[in-house]
Amino acid sequence: MNIVLLGAPGAGKGTQAAQLAASLKIPHISTGDIFRKNMDEKTPIGLVARSYIDLGKLVPDDVTTEIVRARLEEADCKEGFILDGFPRTVAQAEALSRFSEIDAVIDVDVPLEKLMKRLTGRRVCASCHESFHVDFIGARSDCPHCGGELTHRDDDKEETVKKRLEVYKAQTEPLISFYKKSDKLIAVNGDQPVQKVTEEIFARLKK
Ligand code: AP5
Repeated sequence: MNIVLLGAPGAGKGTQAAQLAASLKIPHISTGDIFRKNMDEKTPIGLVARSYIDLGKLVPDDVTTEIVRARLEEADCKEGFILDGFPRTVAQAEALSRFSEIDAVIDVDVPLEKLMKRLTGRRVCASCHESFHVDFIGARSDCPHCGGELTHRDDDKEETVKKRLEVYKAQTEPLISFYKKSDKLIAVNGDQPVQKVTEEIFARLKK
């Protein structure tokens, strides 16, 4: 199954993609994670990406689309994949339709006013990359699952989150109408506990 996860920054795309990937045994492909890895390794793509991500802007379509096109050609994507954070513009969605068939587009819907708190309180494990929220883990600095170091993403600062939410409204939200036309859109309520969101996604995928 080829799945796209749509949703605003902080809607829980990464959290749900990890659950889906583990259950369906298909790869979780996050363009944000690919850019962060390149930024950590200071590759040429990482240097370009940082100049946009630190400002809360989108990395240009041509750079992002080529990364995804090449990744989907890898052998582990043959039985399916979960795209998290791509496409994010109508141009990216049109490009994707030229190189891959998508079976379901899941829009994880959370009221925008709740997202600021989710993002500014997010901590990410540097080893296993799982996300947690300070409301649940308190001030601890080690990952509850693997013991790795918990980090705060640079783009989760309040000013950058504001910009990311504006960019989402202007450039990514139009994708909801784009995919509605194709009858593949599944809107789920992301404003409920993680496990409930996962259950809703699986129930809707089975229909
Ligand atoms: P990316 O890493 O994709 O960031 P994002 O889309 O802004 O999404 P996030 O990772 O912030 O949130 P999420 O929806 O995955 O939520 P999460 O599960 O972590 O992209 C970063 C940047 O890279 C972009 O700004 C852009 O510059 C660039 N980029 C990436 N893709 C691009 C593209 N296609 N084109 C151009 N540029 C691109 O959850 C968030 C928090 O909420 C966590 O703390 C989590 O524990 C908590 N949480 C999750 N679910 C729940 C729940 N149900 N209830 C309560 N808390 C919850």
